[in-house]
Amino acid sequence: MKPEPMAAKPIRARRAECLSGAARVPGDKSISHRALMLGALAAGRTRITGLLEGEDVLATGAAMRAMGARIARDGAAWLVDGVGNGCLLEPEAPLDFGNAGTGARLTMGLVGAYDFGATFVGDPSLSKRPMGRVLDPLRLMGCQVAARSGDRLPLTLHGPRTAAPIVYRLPMASAQVKSAVLLAGLNAPGVTTVIEPVATRDHTEKMLIGFGAELSVETDAAGARQIAVVGQGTLGGIADLVVPGDPSSAAFPLVAALIVPGSDVVIENVLLNPTRTGLIETLIEMGASIAIENRRSAGGEEVGDLHVRHSALKGVNVPAERAPSMIDEYPVLAVAAAFAEGETRMQGLGELRVKESDRLAAVAAGLLANGVTHQAGEDWLVVTGRPDGKGMGGGTVATHLDHRIAMSFLVLGLAAERPVTVDDGRMIATSFPEFLSLMTALGGTLDDVSEEGR
Ligand code: S3P
Repeated sequence: MKPEPMAAKPIRARRAECLSGAARVPGDKSISHRALMLGALAAGRTRITGLLEGEDVLATGAAMRAMGARIARDGAAWLVDGVGNGCLLEPEAPLDFGNAGTGARLTMGLVGAYDFGATFVGDPSLSKRPMGRVLDPLRLMGCQVAARSGDRLPLTLHGPRTAAPIVYRLPMASAQVKSAVLLAGLNAPGVTTVIEPVATRDHTEKMLIGFGAELSVETDAAGARQIAVVGQGTLGGIADLVVPGDPSSAAFPLVAALIVPGSDVVIENVLLNPTRTGLIETLIEMGASIAIENRRSAGGEEVGDLHVRHSALKGVNVPAERAPSMIDEYPVLAVAAAFAEGETRMQGLGELRVKESDRLAAVAAGLLANGVTHQAGEDWLVVTGRPDGKGMGGGTVATHLDHRIAMSFLVLGLAAERPVTVDDGRMIATSFPEFLSLMTALGGTLDDVSEEGR
């Protein structure tokens, strides 16, 4: 019998011999979302290469089309013909963001200062995630919000006739909230300012400048970044916007190569923006052999190739301050820690509870199901490793519609004594559609086991 299209797709990873060869991960998800959004808003054409063609980013593309942008593939590039700042059209149907928090939250910022209605819907994972963090500043700018249950999807926004520019201090370290306020500020008269006490990924600021926005960044005496954007200016298209490889996707073959004995892998063209490299820094502290080769600049960002060899890892303390620069990498760091000598202590993990799943709970449950010694608290995790992987594996991991939980535990299975199964691999397509083929090409042993349960 043919599997139903909507059925879960369990995948199993078995211990691999060694991983070797070179691989190129898809484009950075954060930059890809922003490239389509800012391209859609700019007057004129933007040509994008290296765009991540994952489901999350395609959902953002569909939303931008629904508001007037023309977006088309042209060979390996994407061409976006934007409407001009302030000229988005009212979407006729609800905007469906699927699993994508970044797409939904940033688009709320984009439309929250427009005098029209826009309805946001998403999948069951996105519909559980808190949106108040973005809606609160938008309300201060004059946006009306109609939601059925709390500040969650589905909801409808209606911006004011003239939005009020605000000065907003971020209550949590979130690049999505920062970005939503800055994007709303583009359609408000005067200057909108975001104060960011803890630095988060800075792609929105950099890209807004690239598209011609008047934006300044200053660091105050207390070390907080003050980002000010002048509203109602002109944005112009970018002739050659290059999206570098996603470090959050590179993290999976990177950790796999570190824990599978005998491995020697090169991951090419990875974004090395310092707001994104916390995992690499941590793994190097753990004793990982990661050489950054061919460092260069591409599209205004630093990129490089990561040459990774199997390494004897040791446990370390990962300070809470590092969390924003590796927030999406804790699940796979927990897997690396499972193969490190001693304890790896991770702190400041509160934000993991509101990602595509409650990632702290999902990681702890996955470690438990696979015999990895650990302890977890409200915002911390301690993993006690076993470099030989003895006694590890044999469990099935509940992925809760979370792509990074699925990929992380498949990496665990490549080095554990017994196979590891994830209950559903479909969500991997949201951020890394080539994951299975790329890992298999490097020597990974991953199988679709959908038929087994039928
Ligand atoms: C992102 C910011 C982070 C990150 C997410 C992408 C972005 O979320 O977890 O995957 O592109 O701005 P928060 O802003 O909620 O920390």
